[in-house]
Amino acid sequence: MTEQQSVKPKEKEVSPKTYRITFLPEGKTIEIGPPDPEAHHEGEPGSILDWADRNDISIDHACGGFAACSTCHVIVRKGLDSCSEIQEDEEDMLDEAPGLTLQSRLACQCVPDGSEDLVVEIPAWNRNLAKEASH
Ligand code: FES
Repeated sequence: MTEQQSVKPKEKEVSPKTYRITFLPEGKTIEIGPPDPEAHHEGEPGSILDWADRNDISIDHACGGFAACSTCHVIVRKGLDSCSEIQEDEEDMLDEAPGLTLQSRLACQCVPDGSEDLVVEIPAWNRNLAKEASH
C-alpha cells in the first residue's frame, strides 16, 4: 500500500495570472485576479461587463448581459487578441450598434483570457447617464 497523502479536492482550474483592464475615457485601471464564480455579476463570467460591474464601472447593459441588445458596446483598444472569439449572436447585435469599429465587442460577451492587459473604451453613448455616486 502506498502512503496516502492528504489530497485536496481539486477546485476549478483557474488562471493564476493577474492582468489589468483600463477603462477609457476615465483611465480607471482595475486589477483582475483569478476568477471567483461566486462574485459573478453580469454577462458571461469573467467578461468585461462582469469585471466592470464588480468594480463599480458603469457600462449600460439593457438586456442584462445576454447578447440581446447592443447597449454594452465597447471598443477594445488593446488586448483584443486575448479575448474570446466573437460569436454569431454577438456579431448580429454589434451590427445594430452605433459607431462600430473593428475592435468593437459586446462587453457582456467578451471574456479576456488574462494573457495581456486590456484598454477598453466605453463609447460616449454607452456611458451611463446616471452616474451613481460612489458608495
Ligand atoms: S448587455 Fe445586452 S448585449 Fe450586452
